[in-house]
Parts: sequence; C-alpha cells; structure tokens
Amino acid sequence: MEDPPASVTVCEDGPLLLRGPFTLRTQDGAVVDPGRATVALCRCGRSAIKPFCDGTHKAIGFQAPSAPASKRPLDDV
Ligand code: FES
Repeated sequence: MEDPPASVTVCEDGPLLLRGPFTLRTQDGAVVDPGRATVALCRCGRSAIKPFCDGTHKAIGFQAPSAPASKRPLDDV
C-alpha cells in the first residue's frame, strides 16, 4: 500500500505543518534531517531554530490567516 502524498497545512497564526513522505532540503540541495515524520515550519520569521517553528509565533502575537484573503495577483493572467 502506498503512503499518502505529503501535505502542508497552513495553521492560522502559526506554522506550516508538513506531513507525509517528504525530503527537506536547503536551497543548495543539502538534506535537512527533520527528526520526525511531521514537522512545523516557521512562517513568522522569528524562530530561533529556522526553518523549524519553536513556538515563538505565540509569544510575538503573530497573525496570519490559514487561507488566502484574496486571489494571488497572477491568478487572472
Ligand atoms: S511560526 Fe512558530 S516560531 Fe515562527
């Protein structure tokens, strides 16, 4: 039986949750060991352990919706 594909869940006011079979790489292609099957990637930019979330988003009051508030500018092109 095949694994379900990887998925990314955008958490309101929080990180991106990455689940499923994935390979996390730096922009140079080096593999980053996530250490677990599900990881939270920082979206607020303030984590001390980027690219992973360390919970700082809560302390700084980061706010961002889970879904886009409007269409991307290129959606109509
Ligand atoms: S999203 Fe959690 S520390 Fe940035």
